[in-house]
This record gives sequence, C-alpha cells and structure tokens, in this order.
Amino acid sequence: MLAGKRILLIIGGGIAAYKSLEVIRLLRRQGASVRCILTEAGSRFVTPLSVAGLSGERVYEDLFSLTDEAEMGHIRLSREADLLVVAPATANLIARMAQGRADDLAATALLATDKPVLLAPAMNVRMWHHPATQENLARVIARGTRTVGPVEGSMACGEYGIGRLAEPPDIVEAVIAALTSGKPLAGRRALVTAGPTLEAIDPIRFISNRSSGKQGYAIASALAEAGAATTLVTGPTSIPAPAGVNTVRVEAAADMLAACNSALPADIAVFTAAVADWRVDSTSSEKIKKQDGAGPPQLHLVENPDILRTIATLPKGRPSLVIGFAAETQDVIAHARTKLARKACDWIVANDVAPATGVLGGDENTVHVVSAAGEETWPKLAKQEVARRLVERVARHFGRGQP
Ligand code: CTP
Repeated sequence: MLAGKRILLIIGGGIAAYKSLEVIRLLRRQGASVRCILTEAGSRFVTPLSVAGLSGERVYEDLFSLTDEAEMGHIRLSREADLLVVAPATANLIARMAQGRADDLAATALLATDKPVLLAPAMNVRMWHHPATQENLARVIARGTRTVGPVEGSMACGEYGIGRLAEPPDIVEAVIAALTSGKPLAGRRALVTAGPTLEAIDPIRFISNRSSGKQGYAIASALAEAGAATTLVTGPTSIPAPAGVNTVRVEAAADMLAACNSALPADIAVFTAAVADWRVDSTSSEKIKKQDGAGPPQLHLVENPDILRTIATLPKGRPSLVIGFAAETQDVIAHARTKLARKACDWIVANDVAPATGVLGGDENTVHVVSAAGEETWPKLAKQEVARRLVERVARHFGRGQP
C-alpha cells in the first residue's frame, strides 16, 4: 500500500520508543522507505544501531553535526519525505511543536516541513490529562497535524489510563490513511448534528441539557479532513466552528431539523446532537412573572420532532449511511439495538453517559458501534480519536473510492 512512499520517522523519548522499531518494520513491509531521526531522549530507549538496522538507512541524531548538515540538512530531511511521523510523540515534543521551537533536529525538521505530520502521542496518564498538554495538542491539531492514539492501558510507571502509544499496526493504518487516500471521502457530502438544543419557555428561560458538542465537532472536523463537504448543524456550544466545515448555528430542535433538511442531499449523516425531547407548547412572548398565591406556572410540553428518524426514513433522498448516537446510563448495547431498529439508522454509536463516566462534557469516550452486522466495543479513547476511527470506518464502508 505504501510502495515508493518516503516516511521521516521521528522517535521521541519514552518507554514506548521500542515499539517504533516494529513501526519501521511494518512500514517497510508495506513498501515504504523509512528515514529516522532519533531524539536525544529517544536514544536512551532504543539504539541508533537497531534503528539503522531495521530502517536500512543511517540514523539522524544531532542538529549541529556538520557532517549531517553537509550530507543532508534538516530542510532536505523534511523536504524529501511524503509524511513525517512522530512516534512516540512525548508531551515535551508536542509542547515544543506547539511553540514552534527549533532546539533540536526533530523540532527543527517539524518546523521546517510543509508535509503532513502524524503524531502518535505516548505519555503518563496525568501528563496526557494536564491542560497544558491538551492545549498544546489542540494548537498543533488546529494547524492540520493528524494524530493516532493514545489508547488506554497500563503504563510502565504502574498507572492505568489513557496515554499508551497506539499499537504499531494502528499507526501504520493511520499512515496509510494519511498518504494513500488523504481524502478518502472526497466528492461525498456529510451532515453532522451536534450540541444540545435550547427550547424557549419565555424570552429569558429555556429547557436544555449538558451536551458539550465536543464529539460532534470532532466528527465534523474528521469528515472534512477526509475530504467530505461537511455541514455541521449545531445547538449552542462554547466551541469555535471547526476549520473547513460549513457550520450552521441553531437553537431549537425545529430549527435544527429545518437546517438539516436544507443541508441535504448528503451521503453521510451523523446525529450526535442531544436534541431536547420536549418543548413548551406555546412559548410566552413576554417574561412569565411570578404571581402571588398563584403558584408556579404549568408548562405544557409537546414532543419535538425526531430529527434522526425523520431523515433516516425519508422516502426520497435518504443519506446512504445514517449514523445515530445513543446516550445511555444502563444496558447500553441492548438499548442501542432497539434504537437502531426504531430510528431506522445503519449504525448506532452507543456510549455510557452515567455521571461516573465523565463522558458528558469530558474529553474521552468509550463507545460501542452497533449495526446489523454485529457490534464492536472500542477502548476508552480521546473524542478526536473516536472521530478518527469512526471516519476510517465510514471510508471503509464507502470503499475508500470516489463516488
Ligand atoms: N435524536 C434526534 N432527534 C431527537 C432525539 C434524538 O435526532 N428529537 C437523535 C440523537 O441525535 C441521537 C439519537 O437520536 O443520534 C438517539 O437519541 P436519544 O436521545 O438517546 O434517543 P431517544 O429516542 O430520546 O431515546 P431514550 O430517550 O429512550 O433514550
């Protein structure tokens, strides 16, 4: 799959560095040539000799080696690659990328490149969760950098959580996605709903819910990155509109449905919005005043349209792949199966949103993908990684080809 492709692999420091040797082996097996930069910290974990042995090329280590600069300057190193892969990408290396530093060969090559960059982060769970790391990562992702992993598991330090390097075959799959078909969904149209809806009671008060919109925004970004012309119809959130996505902001469910209808036709529709099930029958145009002795007002609620079901059952112009989300607090998979049938969608991505999971408003998600073909349970993943994997699955569904 990677014949003739040139990968510049930057090996950062960290116990997971040994896995980069397997990455080199798998990339070469796919036909790629692999040139490696070993950071100073990386060289504490793997030897230049083993990297050279597996890559079949000399290893680049020091920015200020005159021989290196004469033979192969850092600019040429990054120019003569189709893709830069950083595995493991440490918290420190990501921070240096975010700041645009050029204080060693790895950082300089990353700053000097105009080629796509794929990061495979690996670090201690607390370092991963630290707001500094999350902010640095968000900055480099906003500049177009792709990521694969990290995944959940036990760490060398004895702790358990998110922060393990993605497995080498998954890193190679992400390399293939980045290189062979950077735009596997080019020519397709996608619609995503996200966030809560806001149902007015009067001009001041409303009914809404705690959805942050993070998962839907991440999916819209990933679809756009994969080449789909993507419309995101979103309820009120505090997240900025994702780059390259046509973002339509709405409040009530009825407006969300209207905006979705206007975004059709679409090939792919993903419904992540937490649509309020009910709205107030007749909204008061004036603020409802407290009245002494009258007690609280009685609100008469009526059901909102089911946006997912409406679009999944369109007699004409139904998107060919309709994906629903199911937020459950118990019997997650059983409820998802019922929802799959009731809502007439092709896949349900079900997640457990019981308060103890921290999914609502959090940065991670553990999901089950349920379809007529069966079900898959994914490990606990960052919401961007859930989005990346889901879009990979969508691309596979469409055969990765042009429509
Ligand atoms: N959904 C929608 N419009 C609605 C309600 C839900 O588009 N009015 C979509 C959501 O975006 C999600 C899926 O339907 O993709 C499941 O939503 P959920 O609220 O879990 O389903 P409900 O039908 O409300 O089921 P229940 O309340 O029984 O869990």
